[in-house]
Amino acid sequence: MPEYVAPRGTNDVLPSESPKWEYVEDKFRKTCRLFGYKELRTPTFEYTDLFTRNLGETTDVVSKEMYTFQDRGGRSITLRPEGTAPAVRAYVQHNLGASLPVNKIYYVGRIFRYERPQAGRYREHTQLGIEALGSIDPAIDAEVISLAVCFYRNIGLKEFELKINSIGCPECRPKYRQALVDFAKDRLERLCPSCVRRYEQNPMRMLDCKEQNCQSALVDAPKLIDYLGPECREHFEKVQSYLRDLDISFVIDPKLVRGFDYYTKTAFEFVSGKLGAQNALGGGGRYDNLVEEIGGSPTPAVGFGLGLERLMLTIESLGIELPVEIGITAFIASMGEKAHMAAVKLAYELRNKGVSVDMDYTGRSLKAQMKIADKLGAKYAIILGEDELARQAATVRNMASSEQITVSLSELADTLA
Ligand code: HAM
Repeated sequence: MPEYVAPRGTNDVLPSESPKWEYVEDKFRKTCRLFGYKELRTPTFEYTDLFTRNLGETTDVVSKEMYTFQDRGGRSITLRPEGTAPAVRAYVQHNLGASLPVNKIYYVGRIFRYERPQAGRYREHTQLGIEALGSIDPAIDAEVISLAVCFYRNIGLKEFELKINSIGCPECRPKYRQALVDFAKDRLERLCPSCVRRYEQNPMRMLDCKEQNCQSALVDAPKLIDYLGPECREHFEKVQSYLRDLDISFVIDPKLVRGFDYYTKTAFEFVSGKLGAQNALGGGGRYDNLVEEIGGSPTPAVGFGLGLERLMLTIESLGIELPVEIGITAFIASMGEKAHMAAVKLAYELRNKGVSVDMDYTGRSLKAQMKIADKLGAKYAIILGEDELARQAATVRNMASSEQITVSLSELADTLA
């Protein structure tokens, strides 16, 4: 074991793997742009009260998972444990609502949660997220969901399930909450200690518990969708009808509650059977009161966050081949000092003309340099020796066929292109 290793629950993405990650991130960005979303970049850390006051005090994230510390100025700072509150903070701070009625933003960012690490659950993860702020139209809920579906399909992922629910609004929830509490009252001894606490503080969160005993104790619990008021019910029905119009299949999961208190109405999650216990590929929903709570004027909104690490695990376990280009066009092998000096110049010239090129910096034998060219996935090796230099030419070797031709240095870029 080396002396220094990455902190528990974090991951390194090595250069051999990173082209796949770049590819997926790039597809996400392109999909967002197709749907009219633009990137918002916010800081990795925020003042702590943005999260403590707006995500829900009793949520797992706020009560036990935040990376919070005092900075040298004595301010309480938290590494962002999710992306929605920071996006809304920026929306309000920069008054984005004044310039456009609907603001559609996306982000790719690192998220920090002090969770117990296991496959698919890390202390630092990456979220690909979007937020659409400014519309109450159920069509935009469907747009948000369809963007995720389109993105997953664009990278070749077809095996996932979309679960949806409506968790109502502050008007319909109290009645449901009471019904749930009444139901759970006689079953408390079957619940885990966390759920007993949830029963007191935030009963709906019991529905989300992964413990088998809790799930079976609550299997017949009342369903929130049966308690929705007319407005929430109509909204939920319209979202479903739009999804059907878009040919997006879904199942209604009455127990889907999501992990933050800001959600209202639509809640959804994408799950993959390939992920084991941490099966949520991504999730989101509507949060019609958060902008106002953060200090803006009332602005309905909806969005999602998709975990990049879990997506990469799913892609791998399904054996999906991503069409990533990992090789370079050419590797310049040189022999002798003069040729080496010429190689430095040639590499720079070719790169400036848009040809991806690497070269030898170790002074190894030609055979060893060819091996490196092979490892780097070079399509061609450009061999420069004293002879070639004297003729202002290079030998170009096709690495796959071993065919060799001589090309003058001035025509090299065009030939390779
Ligand atoms: P979330 O469900 O907490 O939602 O996280 C979104 C996704 O991030 C999860 O579905 C999962 O794929 C990934 N994820 C969460 N925690 C971890 C972890 N510890 N390790 C690896 N991946 C993880 C949110 O954060 C909301 N802000 C999403 C949202 C945006 N809702 C509306 N707009």
